[in-house]
Parts: sequence; C-alpha cells; structure tokens
Amino acid sequence: MSKIGLTPPFLKRVTLLPNRVDRERFPFTRFPRLLNDDFSLEFSRSITFFTGENGTGKSTVLEAIATLCGFHIGGGGWEHQLHATTERSRSLLADALRPSWLPKVSKGFFFRSDTFAEVARYLDDVGVSREIDGRRLHEQSHGESLLSVFVNRFGTKDRCLYLLDEPENALSPTRQLSFLRLLRDWEQSGNVQVIIATHSPIIMSYPGATNLSFDGDAIVPVEFEETEHYRVTRAFLGDPERYLRELFDEDTNT
Ligand SMILES: Nc1ncnc2c1ncn2[C@@H]1O[C@H](COP(=O)(O)OP(=O)(O)OP(=O)(O)O)[C@@H](O)[C@H]1O
Ligand SMILES: [Mg+2]
Repeated sequence: MSKIGLTPPFLKRVTLLPNRVDRERFPFTRFPRLLNDDFSLEFSRSITFFTGENGTGKSTVLEAIATLCGFHIGGGGWEHQLHATTERSRSLLADALRPSWLPKVSKGFFFRSDTFAEVARYLDDVGVSREIDGRRLHEQSHGESLLSVFVNRFGTKDRCLYLLDEPENALSPTRQLSFLRLLRDWEQSGNVQVIIATHSPIIMSYPGATNLSFDGDAIVPVEFEETEHYRVTRAFLGDPERYLRELFDEDTNT
C-alpha cells in the first residue's frame, strides 16, 4: 500500500472558526491582529519550530494545538490526561480552532517545562520510569531526567505527535546537541511530527525544519539565520567584551 499522504506532518493545518471566537477574552484580547478571522497555521514538514520574542504567543498557540489534539492542558502523554492533577483553565483558542489531519494520530506527548516535574512524578508513580537508566526520574538531575524521558518515552514505532515547549530549558549546550540527534532519529523514522517552541539557536538550527516567527502581526516562515536569536547570539559570542561594554555603558548613560 502506498505511504503517500501518510507521512508526517500528520497535522496539516489548524484553522480559526470565527463564529467560535470570543473577542472579549484572552487570547483574542491580547493578540487581536495575529488571531484575526483568517488565522490559520500550515505545517509542511515533520519538524516545525515556533520562534520569537518573549510574550509573542508561542506557548498560547502551542497549548491550544495540544488541547485541540486531545492532550491535557497541563502536559503529558495522551494516557496521562486521566491522571493529571494540574488545574489550568481551558484554552479558548483551542475551542475556536479546527484541525486538519492526514491521518489523525492518537499517540504523542505534550511537554511543557513548567509542569514537567509533575509529569515526571506521575511517570515515577506508575513505575514507567524505573526502566530509565536504572534510576527513577526524581533521582536524576533536571536535564538528565528530561533527556531520559525524551529518549526512553518518546517512541517512533507508531505515528506520533510531539509538542514541546522550550525543551532546552534544562539542557546544557552539549545535551542540546544530543537532542538534535534525537530529532534526526524522530524525523528519519517517518512516524513523528514535532512542533517545538524554542529560544535555542542550537535547536532551531536543525536542517530541514520550518521556523515560524511570531515576531510580527502574522506567523511567517523565516530562515534560521534571519532569527533574532541567531543574530544576537552570534554577534554576542563574536565579541562578548564589546557587547558587554556597550550594554553597561548604556546603563550608565541612562
Ligand atoms: N490566561 C492568560 N490571561 C491573560 N494573559 C495571558 C494569559 N496567558 C498568557 N498571557 C499573556 O499572553 C502573552 C503571551 O504569552 P505566551 O506564554 O504565549 O508567550 P510566549 O511567546 O510563549 O513567551 P515566552 O517566550 O516567554 O515563553 C504574555 O504576555 C502573557 O502574559
Ligand atoms: Mg512560552
């Protein structure tokens, strides 16, 4: 049987249904131009990055996509939703979005760094994490436990959707490079779609991914080298002394 059409991205698009929008409430009050009546987001590759300045709406959109796809708003795998204890309000954006799948997938994980400890506790409690490195998650460092969950819990045998909000938070630069290798494994499996909100220039350098910038009034694809994160990091590391001098001079001049 031909696999055409059954390769990632499985989630092809999310489209706003204007009649379901409550313009008086968050996030429509906060992002009226971004979330206009014509809002839709296309996914054309296995791996998509959300990039942009703090507060531009990346997590808001990722969280909406996650709940739209059936994950618990507090994060975790689909099976975790029955056990999740995080009290979070539901996503009004999710209520106003329609997903287009080919095919619909029913496995995956929604990782958010702010609730990872809770999800790790759950994985420890149900005994799943005993298999990881012989140590339970709470006996590992933040970055170690994070990477072990990614390596050991994020399978590639079945079609999966992985939604990750700032996975770099606990990862050293070297472990971010390991994460790139993991991304390559996921992509090459032909079974995984990943959407990642990130500030890490290392992670967003992954070749063949789409970088979607949230920095303007519309979400648009940008080249990795055009991102603010890449330009600022490169300029800084090229001449840290000059950068710091200018930065602190500005402070004393104001
Ligand atoms: N429930 C809420 N009610 C009102 N405002 C909110 C709510 N949740 C988030 N915001 C605001 O919406 C804006 C966008 O937040 P969001 O977390 O989506 O940004 P982000 O692009 O993920 O930022 P960062 O890069 O810092 O993670 C922020 O200014 C935030 O304070
Ligand atoms: Mg965020």
